[in-house]
Amino acid sequence: MNKKTSFPKRFLWGASTAAHQVEGGNHNQWSVWELENAKTLAAQAEYQVQDFPAWDRVQPDAKNPDNYVSGKATDHYRRYKEDFDLLEQMNMNAYRFSIEWSRVEPQEGVWDPEQIAHYKRYLAELRQRGIEPIVTLMHFTLPVWFADKGGWERRGNIKYFIRFVEKIMSELGNNVRYIITINEPEVYGFCSYKIHEWPPAKRNTLLAMKVIYHQTVAHRRAAKTLKRINPRFKIGIAKNSVFMYPGDDSWVSRISARVAQFLQDDLWLTRVAKSSDFMGLNYYMSQRIIGHRIHNPENTPRSELDWLIAPGDIEHVLERWHKKYKLPIMITENGIADGEDEYRKEWIKETLEAMQRAISHGVRLIGYMHWSLTDNFEWAYGKWPRFGLARVDYKTGARQLRPSAVWFGKVIKKLRKS
Ligand code: BGC
Repeated sequence: MNKKTSFPKRFLWGASTAAHQVEGGNHNQWSVWELENAKTLAAQAEYQVQDFPAWDRVQPDAKNPDNYVSGKATDHYRRYKEDFDLLEQMNMNAYRFSIEWSRVEPQEGVWDPEQIAHYKRYLAELRQRGIEPIVTLMHFTLPVWFADKGGWERRGNIKYFIRFVEKIMSELGNNVRYIITINEPEVYGFCSYKIHEWPPAKRNTLLAMKVIYHQTVAHRRAAKTLKRINPRFKIGIAKNSVFMYPGDDSWVSRISARVAQFLQDDLWLTRVAKSSDFMGLNYYMSQRIIGHRIHNPENTPRSELDWLIAPGDIEHVLERWHKKYKLPIMITENGIADGEDEYRKEWIKETLEAMQRAISHGVRLIGYMHWSLTDNFEWAYGKWPRFGLARVDYKTGARQLRPSAVWFGKVIKKLRKS
């Protein structure tokens, strides 16, 4: 790592989770869909996953329908203190998580005081440990009643989300400063409405665009509501960005890469930037474009999910966003599915170096949240992809930091001192 470029004094070092992926015992549109689709997903795994590098190791899980049911997940809802211990063991001072709307408002207009009290205790616990909470208000899962009304498909439904935002942040706001309104609207729109891999599994490009657009409107309205509750809240959105680069010098490749980046990032970011105090970046991969197609380099290492391993390219996204939007940036997700912990240490190391380069080029980077604190329920893939800094034994619930995480904890300690 470059010893000369130091990270800002109050830099946030942390890890991320999302409620449905860890809490366990949730009842929402996703849990309903899991139960209906687990068998099919298990049967399809043979065809969809067999070319992935980890197939031999993961196939017993990937072919098992139980893998596709979140069930009690990592039981984080009850074991959150143990998970906060892990943050402390890694010398982290921040933690990103989401509030499960379906717990707080299980029926339309009916609030559950027990669940609100749970999240109050949860936040108080973080504060007591000196850990800055970064709260996400929408991370893919919807209360069943909201989904039944058409979810994000209808503009008229945005008001229900705003009512939830107002209620929950009026209750919890005292302990919160950083808020992510919505996680990855475009990933949700794409996977749920274009490639029909996530609920409600529709295939309709126009509807996908509408769903994404409605979430950008929801972000703007939520930001207004939140600023009314507390003008000191720092508000952002978490946006996934795949770095697109031309693989040769031809004008077709160059233009295609630019257009793809625009469609993926700017089309949406321009709609939310003005009502954001910072931007949340979820970075996992880059893609090489030759002609007008994706042609990634072959024979390079890939993650369990067959994603190209190119952590250093995060620098280009950071610098691009900085130039275009001039807002502080928080890395809200970044990591690798790697159950054997073969690549994670190098991944983090290269990412930290890329962050340092970006900072030295003027990027205002305020935090880094690794995805994920623990192994968790990876949506339509279920539990076999392992993104955790800590390994979770789903049978016993035991957690253990992986070697890369122990190393990362030491690095954070040094960086926080320097
Ligand atoms: C999502 C996470 C997910 C991660 C890895 C992001 O798109 O926000 O929920 O687990 O990617 O796939």
